[in-house]
Amino acid sequence: MDAIDQPCQCAAGTPASPARRAFLARSLAALCGGAAVSVPFLAGLGVLMDPLRRKSEHGEAVRVGTLDALPEDGTPVKFPVLADKQDAWNKFRQVPVGAVYIRRLADKKLQAFNVICPHAGCYVDYAAERNSFLCPCHNSTFSLDGKIDDPNSPSPRGMDPLEVELRKDRELWVKFRNYQPGRAERIPVA
Ligand code: FES
Repeated sequence: MDAIDQPCQCAAGTPASPARRAFLARSLAALCGGAAVSVPFLAGLGVLMDPLRRKSEHGEAVRVGTLDALPEDGTPVKFPVLADKQDAWNKFRQVPVGAVYIRRLADKKLQAFNVICPHAGCYVDYAAERNSFLCPCHNSTFSLDGKIDDPNSPSPRGMDPLEVELRKDRELWVKFRNYQPGRAERIPVA
């Protein structure tokens, strides 16, 4: 037999049969195909996981201001909430993600609410002349403790309370999160 007719040898010196060569070729093709598919798959997975990332961002307390900005008589003050945000491709540092009202109660106790109206998502105003909250969109009214003030208010629940704490005896920190509008129960937005 000429050298050209000899079956090829693998690294271990064992002859590779046609069936084995076909199997290796198929395995290599499958490996290459898998690598090509995995790139868009992983990108898509990142998009799907994005709400989870946002959720963890919103689980953190953020510093919104200082105690000396709050009147001692309980008048609410609105603070913007800034936080780092990330989508599938970009990271943004300290962008506005919402706003909160904070009130100072007796003994440096604090009360905080999300400014979003639980009816349909408008921003609630503080109406100084009536010393209560008023939503300009459909006239829901809320007392200073966030409860529905007028039984005719279309909002299905009171304003959404948020955890707030005083750190270093002067810094205001809030655990900010949004809730689904239009529902009587509070369901966090992921
Ligand atoms: S969105 Fe506030 S009352 Fe409708």
